[in-house]
Amino acid sequence: MTRASWRTRIGFILAAVGSAVGIGNVWRFPWFTADNGGAAFLLLYLLFVLLIGVPGLLGEFVIGRRGGSDPIGAFSALGGRNWRPMGGVALLASVVVLSFYSVVGGWILRYLLGSVTGAYFDAPQQFFGAIDYGLGAVAAHVVFLLVTAGVVYAGVDRGIEVATKIMVPGIVVLLVGLAVWASTLPDVAGGYEFYLSLDWGYLQTNFVDVAAAAAGQALFTLSVGAGVMLTYASYLGEDRSLAADGTIIAVLNTVVGLLAGLVIFPVLFSLGVPPGDGGPGALFISLAGAFESLPYSRLIGFAFFGVVALAALSSSISLFEVPVAYLVDEHDVARSWATAGVGALFLVTGSGAALSSDLFTLLADNVANLALTVGLLGFLLFDGWVLGKAALEEYESGAGPLARALGRPWLVAIAVVLPIFLTFTLLSSLTGLAGIAVPATGLLAAAVAGVAAAIAVLRRPGSAF
Ligand code: PFF
Repeated sequence: MTRASWRTRIGFILAAVGSAVGIGNVWRFPWFTADNGGAAFLLLYLLFVLLIGVPGLLGEFVIGRRGGSDPIGAFSALGGRNWRPMGGVALLASVVVLSFYSVVGGWILRYLLGSVTGAYFDAPQQFFGAIDYGLGAVAAHVVFLLVTAGVVYAGVDRGIEVATKIMVPGIVVLLVGLAVWASTLPDVAGGYEFYLSLDWGYLQTNFVDVAAAAAGQALFTLSVGAGVMLTYASYLGEDRSLAADGTIIAVLNTVVGLLAGLVIFPVLFSLGVPPGDGGPGALFISLAGAFESLPYSRLIGFAFFGVVALAALSSSISLFEVPVAYLVDEHDVARSWATAGVGALFLVTGSGAALSSDLFTLLADNVANLALTVGLLGFLLFDGWVLGKAALEEYESGAGPLARALGRPWLVAIAVVLPIFLTFTLLSSLTGLAGIAVPATGLLAAAVAGVAAAIAVLRRPGSAF
């Protein structure tokens, strides 16, 4: 059986943008910007996306395209059987993320429906409280999962590529329309000011915290660490510049986050609703509640939650594809059966998260971040110290002169700098969870020592340094 592949270059790019653009762009990024120095943060964030996010993304692309397989198969093909568990970590991360993501997807569907009927308009807090966990949440998550599975079942080119070619432009067009409409509301100036006013002072005094959070968001938003981007790159046929594609993906993803804020804050400020801290409360309670007081409230609500639904769906499709690719590539299972099997798995794990807010929070707030960080750390160390020259060769294949010139710096970034940063954040989350206070310098020293030890173990004759 010939392996699936993208039909067009834009198909791959839009599928990857679809994965990157997700709930994080809507309920996290805008508030993040507003709270951390507005336009000043935006500049720093862009820098982080280009210096941390894109290199990490390319690290995944390189393994995927060269390995030509699902995460486990790719690691096994490139590094030998001992590396299979590393692919397993990515697979696990994709399962963890989708298990809570599809619960949120279910909430979004309920709000989409609620926009038509007006069900949440009067009392959004009570509405959200009634649907967030329990059997209703299970049912909504199952519907969201079925739609996701339907697209994956249709295949890489005929399902994912076709769907994201419609969904991603749809997201952008709807968001631009909403942002233009929002700008016509009365008293919106405060919204733009809250969102984007330049505040270097805040950034200066809180630099370390803000930088760590910005770097984390730059990685989460680009969907790295779960093998999603690896799997998508494995469906690339011809050689073309991964660096150019990665940069386009990152820029489009940032534009969507930016646009989301240009809708959200004018609406909230126009109606005098406190912007809050982002997250589910901001989206499903404050913003949803604000829609009622606006003209054409149902249409606006439907368009807005339509955007969020498309964003969530195009990400969940990418996560669902990872275990499906594993079954298809490693076990020769037909795509239809693989989809059914993976669907059954998520039916169970997602229902758990839809029934228990404790499980949901554990997955969404802790396990997902840990798994994604460990996943990416493994990818990058593998790129730098096991593939080494081969990683650079893969990066260069199809690359233009500028991207080629950046090849060496890229390799240094992903082999040394990013692993230290990721180990630092990992240690800081773990000590935070354990309730142990360790000064940042101590964590940094431990991270440097840990990465040095890993390099000593991994380094092979073929490695690039
Ligand atoms: N990038 C998605 C978002 O910003 O919502 C989340 C995500 C999707 C993370 C897929 C990781 C992943 F593999």
